[in-house]
Amino acid sequence: MSRLISLRFKKIHLVLLFGCVFLVWNFITFYTLSSKPRPMNTDKEIQLVNQLQALEKAMSKQAEDNRKILSGLQHLKDTNSTNSNMNLTNSNKEGVLPILMIACDRTSVSRALDKLLEYRPSASKFPIIVSQDCGHAETAEVIHKYVVSHNITHLKQPDLSNINLAWPQKKFVGYYKISRHYKWALDQIFVTMKYMAAIIVEDDLDVSPDFFEYFSATYPILQSDPNLWCVSAWNDNGKEGMVSDEAELLYRTDFFPGLGWMIERKLWLELRNTWPEAFWDDWMRHPAQRKGRECIRPEICRTSTFGRKGVSKGLYFDKHLKYIKLNTVFVPFTKIDLSYLEKNKYDATFTKMVYSAPLLSPEEVRNGAQPTSSVVRVEYTTKDSFKRIAALLGIMDDFKAGVPRAAYRGVVSFMFRGRRVFLTPPSSWSGYDTSWT
Ligand SMILES: *[C@@H]1O[C@H](CO)[C@@H](O)[C@H](O)[C@H]1NC(C)=O
Ligand SMILES: *[C@@H]1O[C@H](CO)[C@@H](O)[C@H](O)[C@H]1NC(C)=O
Ligand SMILES: *[C@@H]1O[C@H](CO)[C@@H](O)[C@H](O)[C@H]1NC(C)=O
Repeated sequence: MSRLISLRFKKIHLVLLFGCVFLVWNFITFYTLSSKPRPMNTDKEIQLVNQLQALEKAMSKQAEDNRKILSGLQHLKDTNSTNSNMNLTNSNKEGVLPILMIACDRTSVSRALDKLLEYRPSASKFPIIVSQDCGHAETAEVIHKYVVSHNITHLKQPDLSNINLAWPQKKFVGYYKISRHYKWALDQIFVTMKYMAAIIVEDDLDVSPDFFEYFSATYPILQSDPNLWCVSAWNDNGKEGMVSDEAELLYRTDFFPGLGWMIERKLWLELRNTWPEAFWDDWMRHPAQRKGRECIRPEICRTSTFGRKGVSKGLYFDKHLKYIKLNTVFVPFTKIDLSYLEKNKYDATFTKMVYSAPLLSPEEVRNGAQPTSSVVRVEYTTKDSFKRIAALLGIMDDFKAGVPRAAYRGVVSFMFRGRRVFLTPPSSWSGYDTSWT
C-alpha cells in the first residue's frame, strides 16, 4: 500500500518538474526573442570577452589535464602488466655482462666500438648491443658494419616521434628524447632479453685496457652488497694531476657518476616504474631513488669522453671533460683482493684514515705547508665554504641532491701538488643537506 502511494508521489513529482522546466524554457525563449539587442557598454563587452577567453583557456587546460591523466593511467597499466608478466626467475644469462651502447646520430660511434672491441676479452661474456635512437641513416650504416664484422646487436628505438613541450620546457626536448631512449633500451636489455646485469656506455666514450676486467671483478661485490646500486668507471675529479698513480685504487661513493656504469636487472625493474620524462641522471641522484645506496668508482677513470657534440656537453667538455685522465695500464682486478670495499671494513678504515690526517687550511694546502705530511685534511662546514675551497683547490664545486661529486660520507678525496687531500665535513657529520645545490 505505502509503496503504491510513494510511486504515485514520484509520478506527480516528475510531472511537476517537467512542467516547471517547460515554463522556464518558454519564459527564456520569450524574453530572448522580445528583447531588442541593446548596445552594450564597451567596458562590459571587454569584460565579457575576457571572461569568455578565460573560460576557453580553462576548458582547454582541463582537456589537456584530462589527456595527461589518461596517458598517465595508460602508462601505469602498461608498466603494471609488464611487471606482472615479468619472469623474475634467473635466466640462463648469469655471468654475462652485455655492454649497452646508447647511440644517436654520431658516426664516431665507430671510435667507441673499436676501443671496446680492442680490449674485449670474450665476445660471449660481453656481448655488445648498440641501441640507436634518432633514425640517423649514416650512423645506422656505420653500426651495421659492426653487426656484420663483429656480431654486435643493433637495436633501433622505434618511437622517433616528436615530444611536444610547452614553451619553458621546449628547449629541453633533447633531454626528453634521451630519457625516452634509455627507458626503451634498458627495457630491451632487462625485460626482453632478461640479462641479469649490464654495463651502460655512450657513443662518445673511450675505454681503458682494463675496462672489462674492472667490471668483471666488481660485479660479485655489486651482487652481494645491498648498499651498492652501481659500479661506475668514472671519477668526477679524475683530471690529470688530481689523481694519484695508484691505478688499482677503488672507492665507494654516494654520488651516481654515470659515464660507463653497471647495474643489475633488479634495480632496473625498480627504477623503470617511475622513470622520469627527462634528466634521468639527476633524478637517479635524488634521495627518493638513491635511497642511501652507493656506487664503486675508481681513482683513475676507466672511460673518457671524446664527444664535444651532444645535448649537454659543449662548454662542460671544454671546461672539465677534456682534462680527464683515462687509465692506461691493465690492472688485474679479478686477481686482487677487493674485500676492503665491503661496507663494514671500508667505512671504519676510510673514516679513520680521513680524520686522522692533519687538518690544514685550504691556503696552507695551496702553499705546500707541512711538506712532510703526504695526506692532509681540509674541512668545510657550509655549502659556501665547500664551494670556496673547491675553487681554490680545483675540484668540482657542484652538488646534486646535496652530494658533492665523488663524495663519500661528505668526503671528497683528490690529489693536490702530489699529496692526498681529503676535503671533509666535521667528524660529527650526520648526512647530506639536500638544500645544498
Ligand atoms: C595493477 O595490478 C594489480 C594486480 O596485479 C591490480 O590490482 C591493479 O588494479 C593494477 N593497476 C592498474 C592501474 O592497472
Ligand atoms: C621463467 O623462466 C625460467 C627460465 O628462464 C623458466 O624455466 C620458467 O619456466 C619460467 N616461468 C614462467 C612462469 O614462465
Ligand atoms: C652472435 O651473438 C649472439 C648474441 O650476442 C650469440 O648468441 C651468437 O652465438 C653469436 N654468433 C656467433 C657466430 O658468434
